[in-house]
Amino acid sequence: MDFFLNIPNNEIGNTLTERILAQSNSIKFHKTLPNYSNSKLFELENLSTELGVDNIYLKDESTRFNLNAFKGLGASYAIRKLLIEDPQTSVFCTATDGNHGKAVAWSASINKKKSVVYVPKDTTKERIDAIAQYGGEVIQLDMNYEETCNHAAKQSALNNWMLVQDTSWDGYEKIPALIMSGYLTHFKEMEDSINLFQKPKIDIIFLQCGVGSWPASCIWYYLNRYRTNRPKIVLVEPNEASGVLSSFMHNQRVSPKVNFETIMAGLNCGIPSKSAWEIIKKGCDAVMTIADEDARNAMRTLYKPKENSKRIISGESGSAGLAGLIKCIKDPGMSKLNEHIELNSKSRILLFNTEGDTDKESFKSIVEL
Ligand SMILES: Cc1ncc(COP(=O)(O)O)c(C=O)c1O
Repeated sequence: MDFFLNIPNNEIGNTLTERILAQSNSIKFHKTLPNYSNSKLFELENLSTELGVDNIYLKDESTRFNLNAFKGLGASYAIRKLLIEDPQTSVFCTATDGNHGKAVAWSASINKKKSVVYVPKDTTKERIDAIAQYGGEVIQLDMNYEETCNHAAKQSALNNWMLVQDTSWDGYEKIPALIMSGYLTHFKEMEDSINLFQKPKIDIIFLQCGVGSWPASCIWYYLNRYRTNRPKIVLVEPNEASGVLSSFMHNQRVSPKVNFETIMAGLNCGIPSKSAWEIIKKGCDAVMTIADEDARNAMRTLYKPKENSKRIISGESGSAGLAGLIKCIKDPGMSKLNEHIELNSKSRILLFNTEGDTDKESFKSIVEL
């Protein structure tokens, strides 16, 4: 089975993570940073017609702070808050499959601090170079993502570094929550366009999911702002890194029994984040998985749009939300999910392009086919 239909209770809680999210003033902070601008929200009219839905909005995060991905929103906010608490912190450490590590290295560098970034065995040279470009000391391990996270946590404890990890576990919740609070900026940016007062102008959101922190911040935003008037939310994971789907299947947070071989590097994660999982259960309507080929097709769809539409550069993980929508519409096996989320010709959809061509060689070989 490549999807799970959830019946969320739509409740807002009072956990540490939710309290931190409720206090976020991330947009005010982000506006003070160099290169800040509201990321563009496109309306993909031709694609909506082609797929038979009312409208598709796509928020393009590939230009965010010139980092080619949205992750700078989280790391910059968390690091700023941590430096307010302890200005003497000198080294920030993280584990990453690319985008978050680049964001930590960039955020540390703008605060004139050091960063140590551990990457798993599959991280490409281009992604490693992108982190090093911001002064990050990059160490590649012969491990998968989950093992790399454990290693970074141990090294941080041993060396007295500040661990800035975008996933949480028992006893490590505050910093991931600060990162999630930083992500809230892009939902706030849409308050003068589609996230209107009382009711949003969208019906369904497809969100690509790794450890779940980013989709959980989205879910929390819409739950907190609209409660049951919120849009339906579908999480999209790679077939080979389906931590949230497996956790729903087992009714508890688990590491999926899959081979972690996927081109969607940013989504190639194991067990979901503890605090993200708690929010996802309460406010997500479905989770589905996609194949690498679905992501490749979605990248090409955005790169080679019909007629005069705007070309969008979207990487393997960046296009996964669109890949999920296309699968729902084209694959007859998805009809139960479509009924559950009421996907039909009147649907207004929101997607995020969460990264651009973060691996240029791979991108070229995919879109130029
Ligand atoms: C491009 C991209 N999109 C989406 C995600 C998913 O975010 P999360 O791991 O918080 O679920 C990531 C995570 O690294 C990413 O790099």
